Amino acid sequence: MTQRSTGQRRWQAPRADQDVVAMLIGQHGQIRNLFDAVETSSGDRRRDAFRRLVRMLSVHETAEEQVVHPFVRRTVPGGAAVVDERLREEREAKEVLSRLEDMDPEDPKFLPELQGLRTAVMTHARAEERYEFTHLRRVNDHTRLMAMAKSVRAAEMMAPTHPHPGVESAAANFLIGPFAAIADRARDAFQRRRGGTR
Ligand SMILES: [Fe+2]
Ligand SMILES: [Fe+2]
Repeated sequence: MTQRSTGQRRWQAPRADQDVVAMLIGQHGQIRNLFDAVETSSGDRRRDAFRRLVRMLSVHETAEEQVVHPFVRRTVPGGAAVVDERLREEREAKEVLSRLEDMDPEDPKFLPELQGLRTAVMTHARAEERYEFTHLRRVNDHTRLMAMAKSVRAAEMMAPTHPHPGVESAAANFLIGPFAAIADRARDAFQRRRGGTR
């Protein structure tokens, strides 16, 4: 199967034998594949791929905001500036994702906006890998990295499944995240009952 034909590939649950860095880098790859799937499909397939992209991005960013960024802020010299920049990028991405959710994926403006989001999200992911994940590997032993992977998996199970711009800090995620997650998951269940249409 080629990279471009991954549109029908389902979301892969994080593997229990992966440390936090391998797991999050793997998710960056899945996000890239989902962008491919949306861009190369149309109609219901595009709608389905976009729904999976929205869910993947929403839970991935929330888990990073709850587990990874606070650790980097606490432990990396200059970490606060690094994390503030990542949180700003995450907020901007959620704003665009939110706008895209309100659009018809067949609207001629949808793909150009999605492609702008893709560039921003993949640049953000490379910055995380370079400035945060490298540090995680350097300062943590294997046991600690596995424990952080477990925390990320737990955060993803409870995370909102749609974008909520403005809920980026760990504190805001702690206070508002659970309510947003319940509302999002109820909305998802309702849409599934309606046959998956928005
Ligand atoms: Fe992120
Ligand atoms: Fe990320």
